[in-house]
Amino acid sequence: MSATARKSAPMPDDIRARKGGVPLVSLTAYTTPMAQVMDAHCDFVLVGDSVGMVLHGLPSTLGVTLEMMILHGQAVKRGLSRAMMVVDMPFGSYEEGPAQAFRNAARVMAETGAGAVKLEGGVVMAETIAFLVARGIPVMAHIGLTPQSINTLGGYRVQGRGAAGQALLADARAVAEAGAFAVVLEKVPQTLADQVTAEVAIPTIGIGASAGCDGQILVVDDMLGLFTAFKAKFVKRYADLGAQAEAAVAAYAEEVRARSFPGAEHVFADSVPEART
Ligand code: KIV
Repeated sequence: MSATARKSAPMPDDIRARKGGVPLVSLTAYTTPMAQVMDAHCDFVLVGDSVGMVLHGLPSTLGVTLEMMILHGQAVKRGLSRAMMVVDMPFGSYEEGPAQAFRNAARVMAETGAGAVKLEGGVVMAETIAFLVARGIPVMAHIGLTPQSINTLGGYRVQGRGAAGQALLADARAVAEAGAFAVVLEKVPQTLADQVTAEVAIPTIGIGASAGCDGQILVVDDMLGLFTAFKAKFVKRYADLGAQAEAAVAAYAEEVRARSFPGAEHVFADSVPEART
């Protein structure tokens, strides 16, 4: 079913059932107004830990806290009625083991109303994914470039090229077998993304991967041209809102300095004119 025709949000099983069908549409969101804009168009919305970089000016996602994710999750949820919400588990909130992951994921689910959580990692996270799923927490996995591991990956480079492709395939199989209902593939070669998509039984959600994936996701501030610190090759700018916002602010500043704003239509008279009878 298309997102516009739907009356209520899909469940993780509905997303899983879209394997091989019409591509799943997804964007990140961090605020109520932006969630409202995308609600009718997206199958699911991700409250990504990219919030740290795009809204809070952090240099990476490592400084994002569970409290930040819960606060933004609550804001996004208020703007959604037709798209499912997935919330990222931030760095340090799940890697110690299944018990820590459950404790924090349960808070995210209970306090935000999310339909699922997302966490980064393949084979190494399979046990944790299985533990969460068995206890009622749907999990979206995220493999390939996993930004929370930037210090061990050594940079934001393409993952899975050459011999490393086998390890990425193993990651994809492991998270699918562990019970993840979908897997994000970030910044992997197109042919490898197509191979993973053909091999695993759950939907692949590409970001810098392949049009052959079962769905796509982008960071909303990237595709709207609001985040301009850098632009990854896989980002397509569908708008240039950052430049438009700057032009608007510059026009406002000029009018304030020239005393042409506020105009007559923006100010109030001493008395209210009598109502006509
Ligand atoms: O945090 C995020 O925005 C993400 C997407 C890039 C998939 O994880």
